[in-house]
Amino acid sequence: MNIDVILGLQWGDEGKGKIVDYLADRYDVVARFQGGPNAGHTLVFDGKKYVLHTIPSGVFRENLINLIGNGVVIDPITFERELKNLDAADVDYAERLFLSQKAHLILPTHRLLDAANEAAKGKSKIGSTLRGIGPTYMDRTGRNGLRVGDINRPDFKERYERLKQKHLAILTSLPNVDFDLEGEEKKWFASMEALRAIPQVNSEYFVNNCIKYGKRILAEGAQGSMLDVDFGTYPYVTSSNTVTAGVCIGLGVSPDKIGEVIGITKAYCTRVGGGPFPTELFDEMGELLRKEGHEFGATTGRPRRCGWIDLPQLKYTIMLNGVTQLVVTKIDVLNIFKELKVATSYVIDGEATEEVPYELPNEMDLEFTNYPGWEQSLEGATCFEELPQAAREYVDALEAALGVPITMVSTGPDRKELITRTSVR
Ligand code: GDP
Ligand code: IMO
Ligand code: MG
Repeated sequence: MNIDVILGLQWGDEGKGKIVDYLADRYDVVARFQGGPNAGHTLVFDGKKYVLHTIPSGVFRENLINLIGNGVVIDPITFERELKNLDAADVDYAERLFLSQKAHLILPTHRLLDAANEAAKGKSKIGSTLRGIGPTYMDRTGRNGLRVGDINRPDFKERYERLKQKHLAILTSLPNVDFDLEGEEKKWFASMEALRAIPQVNSEYFVNNCIKYGKRILAEGAQGSMLDVDFGTYPYVTSSNTVTAGVCIGLGVSPDKIGEVIGITKAYCTRVGGGPFPTELFDEMGELLRKEGHEFGATTGRPRRCGWIDLPQLKYTIMLNGVTQLVVTKIDVLNIFKELKVATSYVIDGEATEEVPYELPNEMDLEFTNYPGWEQSLEGATCFEELPQAAREYVDALEAALGVPITMVSTGPDRKELITRTSVR
């Protein structure tokens, strides 16, 4: 059995949580492979909304195993809060939630460094979620990090202290920021109990044994491909590999074990934080998309920048990920528009191109194709044929342009608001 993958093809917040939750009952295991509490994955069902940051979106499905892989970075404080939310929702995760021993820990000083680094950048700041992601991944590659498996060591406290001192030394060269280090450290050590209570596994064996014994595994991506540290809009990116290749590194599986790659795109496009965004709308259209789509960050509450869907960008991330199926989410957000626009090429130095350049300019001309809107609600549509003709034509046009089957169309936040076009598996 191979591992199927779900990931975002834009700048994050494509609706990964919803789709993972929807598909999860077809799997035995859901595993996160990168990112950390910078992610905010929203699930809506039975009239309730849940936001997950570190815990895989399969956790609400009974009997399903959820694994936090070695490629994930964990903040014990956020993690404990998430567990408490699950307790409050009566979700029994005992024996169903596992942690990789090799996942790295986010220390309070990682968060402090994140804030100080951003302050030092001034106007050119990344717009980080300030969850300590960048500094933690830096310590991973710098071979200084603390891992989940280290919490069992008798000298854990000394190791913590050594790393903290390193951070404090770096901080002397950065601007001062408001941060209650002592208070955060207290919380951090208190949260260690919750972390200790979750079984740790040698996750590469765990995953490969699951594959060997025919278990169906779904890898859940965080962020989006345009935030990938290598292929995204560098330096306005996150610090992990968000593309399919990240599954191999973040879970310890070989590339030949990758099965279906399900790429998610909104029917339009959003980005939160700094960096280039070719199709961004600065007019009332952008404002309308934000309002209709409730485009405010699930982690930070920041307003998301909004724009039209961008085909060169999507073709690029489909290529990078080896996408075999597409899911288009939030199509209902377009209900009110009379006309829809789809960016078909960039115009760079007077030449139209479909290639994403080394550096996307902050401003450039674009070529668009216009499509008529449907100007009606999609409520009650249970199959593709029941969608208004203009909505079907819009989806068909995207599919034809992108060259990958669109197997699902999401028409609302609820688990039930999903239209499947062809069998997913
Ligand atoms: P993720 O990070 O990719 O999991 O996405 P987020 O949860 O950060 O953001 C997606 C937002 O859109 C959440 O508030 C979802 O509840 C919501 N959502 C997901 N799919 C749809 C949809 O098809 N229509 C609408 N209107 N909202 C959706
Ligand atoms: P999900 O999984 C949207 C963005 C931040 C910032 C940049 C770097 O919910 O789709 P970081 O905290 O990683 O140092 O921030 O990446 N970013 C996200 N944007 N969705 C996310 O996750 C994101 N995670 C990080 O806004 O621009
Ligand atoms: Mg999100």
